Amino acid sequence: MNYGHFNDDSKEYVITNPKTPVKWINYIGGLSFGGFVDQTGGSLICRKDPATNRIVKYIPQLPLSDFNGETMYIRIKEKDGYRIFSPFYTPTLDKYDQYECHVGMGYSTYISEFYGVRSEVTIFVPRDSERVLRDIKITNLREENLEIDLIPVVEYTHFEAMKQFNNADWVPQTMMSDLVVEKGDLKTVLQYAFMRKDTNVNYFTSNHPISSFTTDKNHFLGDNGYGTFKRPKSLEKDELDNYLALRGDNIVALMHHLDTVKPKETRRIITQLGQCEGIENETKEINYYREEANVEKAFLDLKKYWKNLLNKLVVDTPNKEMNSMLNIFNPRQCNTTLNWSRYLSLYQLGLGARGIGFRDSSQDVMGIVGHSKDEAKKLLRMLMSVQKRNGSAMHQFNPVTMIANEGDSREEEDRDDFYGDDHLWIVLAVNAYLKETGDFSFVDEMIPFYEKDKEENPLETASVLEHLKRSLMFTRTHTGKHGLPLLGFADWNDTVNLPKGAESVFIANLYGVALNEMIDLYTFLDDNTLVSKYKKYYQHMKDVVNEVAWDGEWYTRYFDHLGEPIGSKVNSEGKIYANAQSWTVFSGFATEERKNIALDSLNKYLNTSKGIKLSYPGYNGYEEEKGGVTTYPPGAKENGGIFLHSNPWVMIAETKRGNGTYAFQYYNQINPATKNNIIEEFECEPYVYPQNILGDEHPQFGLGRNSWLSGTASWTYQAGIKYILGIMPTYQGLKIDPCIPKEWKKFSVVKEYRNAIYNIEVLNSNCKEKGVVKVIVDGKEIRGNNLPIFDDSKEHNVKVFM
Ligand code: GLC
Repeated sequence: MNYGHFNDDSKEYVITNPKTPVKWINYIGGLSFGGFVDQTGGSLICRKDPATNRIVKYIPQLPLSDFNGETMYIRIKEKDGYRIFSPFYTPTLDKYDQYECHVGMGYSTYISEFYGVRSEVTIFVPRDSERVLRDIKITNLREENLEIDLIPVVEYTHFEAMKQFNNADWVPQTMMSDLVVEKGDLKTVLQYAFMRKDTNVNYFTSNHPISSFTTDKNHFLGDNGYGTFKRPKSLEKDELDNYLALRGDNIVALMHHLDTVKPKETRRIITQLGQCEGIENETKEINYYREEANVEKAFLDLKKYWKNLLNKLVVDTPNKEMNSMLNIFNPRQCNTTLNWSRYLSLYQLGLGARGIGFRDSSQDVMGIVGHSKDEAKKLLRMLMSVQKRNGSAMHQFNPVTMIANEGDSREEEDRDDFYGDDHLWIVLAVNAYLKETGDFSFVDEMIPFYEKDKEENPLETASVLEHLKRSLMFTRTHTGKHGLPLLGFADWNDTVNLPKGAESVFIANLYGVALNEMIDLYTFLDDNTLVSKYKKYYQHMKDVVNEVAWDGEWYTRYFDHLGEPIGSKVNSEGKIYANAQSWTVFSGFATEERKNIALDSLNKYLNTSKGIKLSYPGYNGYEEEKGGVTTYPPGAKENGGIFLHSNPWVMIAETKRGNGTYAFQYYNQINPATKNNIIEEFECEPYVYPQNILGDEHPQFGLGRNSWLSGTASWTYQAGIKYILGIMPTYQGLKIDPCIPKEWKKFSVVKEYRNAIYNIEVLNSNCKEKGVVKVIVDGKEIRGNNLPIFDDSKEHNVKVFM
């Protein structure tokens, strides 16, 4: 069963049934202003920070049939009273003749038909302006004249998102509204919390005369609030009560009479929701966006932005679903994680507990460096500014205040307060940025460390290179009994939290990958001393891993504080972990023989038809000492679930051993586009990767959750482009080294790289999985498989023979 289809030509997924098993969302705008909209027109909007400056109230725990944040009512005058319905299906739930939600790049368009009225509503935030526009077109499809009214509604929240839920004394006493009447009966209704009346004023307005309005939820619902959003009592009267709430639950509902709409006639209204310091300063822009032509231009600009962005890399492979993801939906998801980290989604509620994650965003950057270089660089700077002088990193930070904290590790006193892996990810991210852009002056840029003196001045500032060196130093100087890196509070697997002294094989490998990156960089920078120093560190850690972590059929994942292995045949639960296998191959630490044994064991014990499980067997009961992982039943999340983020690492490992069949099989089995026809099982949006799918130890095997904000986006994109298709930016140019299923006869890639366009065609008439034999660039054969850096704004044709 499906709930819609892909339309790659328009770069949209089209939802055709609003009753999806969970809300399916799309992001509009960005962290500076924006949020998400759901498939029934609901929205969650904030400005700069969802925790401390939230505008609209969205409560994901409400029944799906309720509306959240924003909706609209249409009212038709009929002989026996008003027919009232929402073109967004919720909250009135009328029977529709057509329903479509087009999930586009930075916008959603809703097309519906109810009772002979067609509505088309496009919701977006203009690229260079902070406001949500709803461009609404209403058409009378009947043969008779209709008297139609439009009543858009916004439900506000207190700006401090958490307070809305935990303080029902203070919050309602502070919430106020106000009215600005303009020429021609245009009106703008203001809403603010009293203490922010001069700084953060929310406004809602349209470009059509407003005959009446209301601003209090209970007034709108009627009957002292015992009316319902399904049938608000206030809409049974001709006009709303023009009540300006000076406390309480603030909403805004605006009555627009379209009067007589003739058969086939279309009317258009544009609403704006935004926030400003003082409405006087905003009038000019509000008026600008009241003009249809300006709204159309803003929408075209948004489309152009996405067209340019997605054109930076276009693939054509024999697999349709892979093409959809790599060309459109996966980079779009990467752009979203770059913006929102793990801050605001239907699952990460943006109430302040998190913020921008150090490890998360470092990995996000890697997925998008080819598309959004400037944003990537900006984020890299922010990340390094919360790194500490000893090389470790603060776990997360608030993007507005730049105040960072140690994450969950603060909660447990007997555990370390650093995460053993965080600081190493930045090494990978900066190198990915440099290899993609060639912006080498960045390595000398000075960035402060996090620690400050009493006047809030940084205690030390150092170059980007120095930041990276300190990352490596922290790991090198924080090792445990076996010589492996200390786990700290946790590594990438946030939920295995062991008492002080535990060691992590994963971090050892991440350190190995980071060292390799720095060896590449220093080779390019011609610093032989550092190259040989890092090579020594690399060899040392490789020896340690092979000496202590080989378990016979696979690599062990951790040693606890007593030196006992976790992820070993001696354990009865959590015997084998995926990351210990994939990363030992990724780092190059695994020997040739062990590499094959480890990846085959992974395939045998961890692979399922719906993805690779993180570990097996699941822990079956809470153990305080192990922490979070044992809070889940077996098969869920990190406890033996299919944690998608770790799947691309296995794809990468498979390409390292030249197994294109497995690499692609693993790619394909988690591709959400392949789930489009089994939504009853998967439930989530088929156009983005979720964070997790329940594993086969769980009765609901196959159920996806936590869509959108997951490191899966970045890594699956990297696995697809850099490792399976083998289009890999290096310091020496664009390396082409595919690892594909042998049935693939050919594929092509167009990539913008270092100011030139590479039209690459890969031909595989020998049915190989890996191994390039000949490369022809602009008609001439080159030595090796590194395409030259042209930097000449021209197109170059490349033929690669495998
Ligand atoms: C979540 C966290 C990420 C962590 C992962 C595995 O996705 O955002 O930081 O690495 O879970 O535990």
